[in-house]
Amino acid sequence: LRPKDLEGLSVVVTAGPTREFLDPVRYISNPSSGKMGYSIAKEAWYRGAEVRIISGPVALESPHGIQVIPVTSAEDMLDAATRAMDDCDVMVKAAAVGDYRFASRSEHKIKREGKSEVSFSMIANPDIAATLGEMKKQGQILVGFAAETDDLKENARRKLRAKGLDLIVANDLTEPGSGFGTDTNRVTIFDVQGNSKEVQGDKTEVASIIWDEVLLRREGR
Ligand code: C5P
Repeated sequence: LRPKDLEGLSVVVTAGPTREFLDPVRYISNPSSGKMGYSIAKEAWYRGAEVRIISGPVALESPHGIQVIPVTSAEDMLDAATRAMDDCDVMVKAAAVGDYRFASRSEHKIKREGKSEVSFSMIANPDIAATLGEMKKQGQILVGFAAETDDLKENARRKLRAKGLDLIVANDLTEPGSGFGTDTNRVTIFDVQGNSKEVQGDKTEVASIIWDEVLLRREGR
């Protein structure tokens, strides 16, 4: 049985991939399953928090007791997340947000006939975590993720600062049992003071340690 040590906290977790549509039948996305974000949300609920998930398209069931706010694109997610930032204590950004979207979206299916090559221009999506970092009020805690294939530590520390996060959970995508779609994860959690902690286990265990770390920061404020 978990302690109800998150009772009274309002928690928001972003989870899953985003989809950026080119036309009504085509989009660009990524292999995020949403499992890490959903595990973090469920763990918070078990420990007594009031929990919302802002979820990109995933094949997971809506967890009992948790409000799921479905979104599709990065811009939808930004909208929902900025709204939720008004009244939450902790925001965890576990979503794999698409960095770019198509510069224009066709209302009609783009035809293939007669084209041996095509190109579409893309433009940068807003950085949701960085936007929320700027909105952060006294007492709110923002947790981000960093999935990296190179220079894990340097990239994680840079993102922690650049996005105004309190904690960043970094995973090395080249490690077995880590990252997209797996049930397990191996992560390092970094804080703004320069501390770091390595954690490995199934995503529920990793989620539980992330909440322990968040609680320490809340109590220490
Ligand atoms: O993609 P990147 O490695 O920069 O992601 C690091 C953190 O920033 C993650 O928590 C991710 O959810 C968040 N992010 C975001 N909006 C983006 C890109 C990333 O909130 N456009």
